Amino acid sequence: MRPRRAAAPYGVGGGSTVSGLMIECPPLSRLPADLLEEGDLTLRAWRPADGPTLLTAVLESLEELHPWLPWAHRAYGPEDAAAFLDQMDCAREHGTDFGYAIVEGEALAGAIGLHLRDDPRRLEIGYWVHTAHAGRGLATRSVRLLSAEAVALGEVDCLEIRHDRANERSGRIPRRLGFAYAGQRRRAPQAPGETSTELLWRLWCTDDARRTLAAPT
Ligand SMILES: CC(C)(COP(=O)(O)OP(=O)(O)OC[C@H]1O[C@@H](n2cnc3c(N)ncnc32)[C@H](O)[C@@H]1OP(=O)(O)O)[C@@H](O)C(=O)NCCC(=O)NCCS
Repeated sequence: MRPRRAAAPYGVGGGSTVSGLMIECPPLSRLPADLLEEGDLTLRAWRPADGPTLLTAVLESLEELHPWLPWAHRAYGPEDAAAFLDQMDCAREHGTDFGYAIVEGEALAGAIGLHLRDDPRRLEIGYWVHTAHAGRGLATRSVRLLSAEAVALGEVDCLEIRHDRANERSGRIPRRLGFAYAGQRRRAPQAPGETSTELLWRLWCTDDARRTLAAPT
């Protein structure tokens, strides 16, 4: 078994900013599927061959990603994309972190991930969407699809989404999907658009949550 390594930050994209971070949680025993589909939307586990398309998607979306995701900057290059994909592969193998390409039709339209952090009973969801695919409900659909899969696993008590207070667009996604506001915390800004306040949303894995996630968004 390969040594356990860092998982990406919840923004799901680059490896260089998290070197040294160890995931201490035990792995999930039931793992989310590698492929989730709903109409023309596909979430599929990252592949090593995704490097060039991931790089292109990130660079084409920098203006929207840069304010909120610390790894999304002009120097993002092939080695960052390759390191991220390597991390995702390693973390999936260890059952601690599950990154997916958001694919719309044939196009790489963004990224989403389920991440075990410091509590084995909670999974965090992070996401970003390619600028050319934004503003059409894709992030909301993707979070709903992955949340439904995560809740169905029966492995955790709740799902979490965190975002900076200023990132209202991101915050509308958990609100729309029935996550409950669970508080805020102070933390140093990690990306240029961030304030010092991070908001937390939780969805408890109940039958109600299953029903809500099954409803169209
Ligand atoms: C946040 C992000 C993932 C949203 O992706 P998206 O596919 O455009 O989102 P959706 O189309 O599902 O819309 C989500 C909400 O944002 C609203 N929205 C869409 N475009 C918007 C815009 N240009 N300005 C403000 N709100 C907007 C939608 O109306 C929706 O809210 P509603 O359900 O209350 O109507 C995307 O903008 C992004 O990648 N941002 C940069 C990375 C990031 O912030 N990641 C999250 C880190 S916590």
